[in-house]
Amino acid sequence: MTKIRKAVIPAAGYGTRFLPVTKAVAKEMLPIIDTPTIEYIVREAMESGIEEFLIIVSSNKNSIIDYFDNNFELEYQLAQKGKIKELSLIKDLPSKLNIHFVRQHEQLGLGHAVLCAKEFVGNEPFALLLGDDVYVGNGNPALAQLVDAYEKTSSSILGTLKVADEDVSKYGICKPAEESESRLIKLESVVEKPALKDAPSNLAIGGRYILTPTIFKYLETQTRGAGNEIQLTDAILRMMSEEAVYSMEIDGSRYDIGSKIGFIKATLEFALNRDDLKDEVKELLNSLK
Ligand code: G1P
Repeated sequence: MTKIRKAVIPAAGYGTRFLPVTKAVAKEMLPIIDTPTIEYIVREAMESGIEEFLIIVSSNKNSIIDYFDNNFELEYQLAQKGKIKELSLIKDLPSKLNIHFVRQHEQLGLGHAVLCAKEFVGNEPFALLLGDDVYVGNGNPALAQLVDAYEKTSSSILGTLKVADEDVSKYGICKPAEESESRLIKLESVVEKPALKDAPSNLAIGGRYILTPTIFKYLETQTRGAGNEIQLTDAILRMMSEEAVYSMEIDGSRYDIGSKIGFIKATLEFALNRDDLKDEVKELLNSLK
């Protein structure tokens, strides 16, 4: 059994849903309270056993590269002033990470972004985490749940969630191969952003994947699909003619931070879970009613 050691995180999109701020700030650097959203994703992957990261960036995303590097000047200043707690906040993560970056020169879609990871991944299965989906797993991080499932199937696994009818057209939707109550199901097909009348189920792909390297063969020849973009879901569908693909329903809370209301919800719920903030935030919320 090959261990899942590598993770790919696409972070090259324009972030148009968060304009005007994303004109000059990478969407992935927008903070939930005081921590960039991409750090939550990286930490989830580390807690799931990932050892090596590739972040796919575009030309205006240098702040992400800086963020995962050491800032020696600031570290020196904080050390001089004896600000040990603040020092560990900026120093600990970069020194633990084995992280690489690659540029996606044209934004042709998620499938095209993932293809930029081909050389980094090589010939082993890997994890893919999308930055718009932040999870708080029930006991076990979302990606770790997929890694456990991979240990049973040795096949690609799509992390899923059940969505309401009015939301199916926003997601990749899975068609299970058979009816089952199990969280881990073999799939017959997948379709990207179907109209409700064409959706085979309510089981949506939720931004977490374990993929075998076979996917690259299909991405290389993938033509444009929904939204005129090169879609990962379409390449996964074609890969199914060669290899089994499963879905695993993720146990935990998911925040769609690609939407404004999802971002606000994440901010409030994360604050309510922090000892340094929860009392004041509760008071604030009560005063607003
Ligand atoms: C992407 C995927 C889609 C998936 C979604 C999850 O779509 O293409 O299959 O369901 O992420 O967040 P996007 O939201 O980037 O359009």
